[in-house]
Amino acid sequence: MENDILKVLITEEQIRRRVQELGVELTKDYEGKDPVIVGVLKGVVVFYADMIRQIKTPCQMDFMWISSYAGTTSTGSMQVKRDISADIRGRHVLILEDIFDTGNSLDFTYRHLLSKEPASLKICTFLDKPERRKPGITLKPDYVGYTVPNEFVVGYGLDFNEHYRNLPYIGVLKPEAYEG
Ligand code: IMP
Ligand code: MG
Repeated sequence: MENDILKVLITEEQIRRRVQELGVELTKDYEGKDPVIVGVLKGVVVFYADMIRQIKTPCQMDFMWISSYAGTTSTGSMQVKRDISADIRGRHVLILEDIFDTGNSLDFTYRHLLSKEPASLKICTFLDKPERRKPGITLKPDYVGYTVPNEFVVGYGLDFNEHYRNLPYIGVLKPEAYEG
């Protein structure tokens, strides 16, 4: 697995420090608001587990699972495979995501949750890849861990064909790893 990595973009230590910093910010911003922290499965699980433990104020955990409609990946049509379980009407909601890439997933997730009339709705993404943003996506992340260049990354929850999620750092794959 490690042999498939061309280079490490973000080390374990950098991840740890940045998550701690975000934790200070989120704790301050959500103090006394009892937010619902919504994770978008499955890429977010590793970041989610680290991040939630740095939010040092009462909060609630929830998850949703979305997917693209089969065969229409080019149009970016999404569907909810598993919705959140909390009633978020009038609640402060923070979405946690692994990566903000084209923006299709977060745009869909944001609109889906907004329709449930939360008191506030913000986005915290561990990685932001602004160069890949689809024209027409105006949504902006409120909190970003790291901005990354236009390269396909794996690790820290992010996969290629469902593998490499368990790498503890963010890395770029060797070209031959794609060919399997
Ligand atoms: P979107 O293009 O912003 O809708 O991102 C959709 C999803 O694609 C993300 O939530 C990730 O699961 C996945 N994704 C996007 N870019 C990468 C990458 O560089 N590596 C691994 N997964 C990615
Ligand atoms: Mg994802």
